[in-house]
Amino acid sequence: MELLTKAPKGTVDLVPGATGKWQLVEDVVKSEAELNGFAEIRTPVFEHTELFLRGVGDTTDVVEKQMYTFEDKGGRSVTLRPEGTAGAVRAMLENGLYNAGYPVKLYYCIPCFRYEKPQSGRLREFRTFGVEMFGAAEPAADVQVIALALSAFKRLGLDDVGLQLNSIGCPACRKEYHKALTEYFGAHRDQLCETCLSRLERNPMRILDCKSPVCGEIAKGAPKITDYLCGDCQEHFGKVQGLLDAVGIPYELDPRLVRGLDYYTRTVFEFPSKSLGFALGGGGRYDGLVEELGGKPTPGLGFGLGLDRILMALEERGAQFPEEERCEVYLAAMGDEAGKKAFVLMDGLHKCGVSADCDLCARGLKAQMKYADRIGAKYTMVLGDNELEAGRAELKNMKTGEKVEISIGEGFVDEYLTASTAQEI
Ligand code: HAM
Repeated sequence: MELLTKAPKGTVDLVPGATGKWQLVEDVVKSEAELNGFAEIRTPVFEHTELFLRGVGDTTDVVEKQMYTFEDKGGRSVTLRPEGTAGAVRAMLENGLYNAGYPVKLYYCIPCFRYEKPQSGRLREFRTFGVEMFGAAEPAADVQVIALALSAFKRLGLDDVGLQLNSIGCPACRKEYHKALTEYFGAHRDQLCETCLSRLERNPMRILDCKSPVCGEIAKGAPKITDYLCGDCQEHFGKVQGLLDAVGIPYELDPRLVRGLDYYTRTVFEFPSKSLGFALGGGGRYDGLVEELGGKPTPGLGFGLGLDRILMALEERGAQFPEEERCEVYLAAMGDEAGKKAFVLMDGLHKCGVSADCDLCARGLKAQMKYADRIGAKYTMVLGDNELEAGRAELKNMKTGEKVEISIGEGFVDEYLTASTAQEI
């Protein structure tokens, strides 16, 4: 029975009461993206598995351990997206979005899926808001996306969100760095976890991101990527910092920040929440990804924010959300004829954009009024034989108790609008 009555582990339902808060947060992040010239893209929930193997990287935890991959009935291997960037790149290329000129600026608000051990702030289905920008190689682009995210956090009242910053260079400077890492970790081979051992030759940078405490301790003494940056990467990173300073964004340089996905080049960043102790988002540049996925060499960059974590941070701060308005006017009725009239009046209100409700459960008057109270109706009207005969009924303001008699005939909607505007609560 549990399979029918309990949502799968690591997933959550967002129910009325909570969805209003979500919509508010989504509105803030979307409007901040639109203010910066980003337009919404919606891509499929599943993609060919190959896209993530190539895009995210086959030595990452996400690909090695966390993907929901299955064969469809046609024998194709498909995967529920574990993140949004690879799908956005594919869609940008497939739909020729670059034809409209660079930079291409996209945003999305999507569920993602990772088979992780569920814990506070870690779900198997989680929601992310992300932006991706293509065709902009300038450091100003890096700072625009960082500023966008920080501005959204500020508007949400999350002023304890920091910025951790690093540059992980380009393939040219990584060659030497990989050599140094292989040498360093090779000397600790017998202490590394099994996964890190297998990554030692293939992708030693991934060891820096290992969650095992032993590997983490060893990683603390590893060579730093920032000591191996080539001249161009150094210059880019310097300009990013200069622009952050120019717009007054504080940051903390963290030479150990490498991020958990393989596509990053140059600037990488995370937005840690001091109160929650984990990142609310992260991102960076991925100047090689478009080419890796079959396009022409095109710089790219972006970030993903964990919306579940943002909601957690807001709850933790005791943020106040406005009450969700569900009903402006409730039309109660006694008897079949009055019930029919209430339905017609409600329909008229809906057509004029007024939220209204009436009885759908054959309840008595008392129960109808109780329901009106529960859904927070601002006004109520009671219709019975007398009202039908007179063609008029009382509109009651539930907060002040004030009553105004209005027509329930031809002029109903106009009289309702006049009366309710005059009484504006
Ligand atoms: P990511 O850091 O893997 O980056 O995920 C982005 C954010 O999603 C994280 O900072 C975190 O807030 C949230 N998140 C990740 N996994 C979970 C989970 N299991 N449960 C709850 N929240 C989670 C990316 O996915 C990149 N695609 C971001 C990006 C876009 N980089 C460039 N463009």
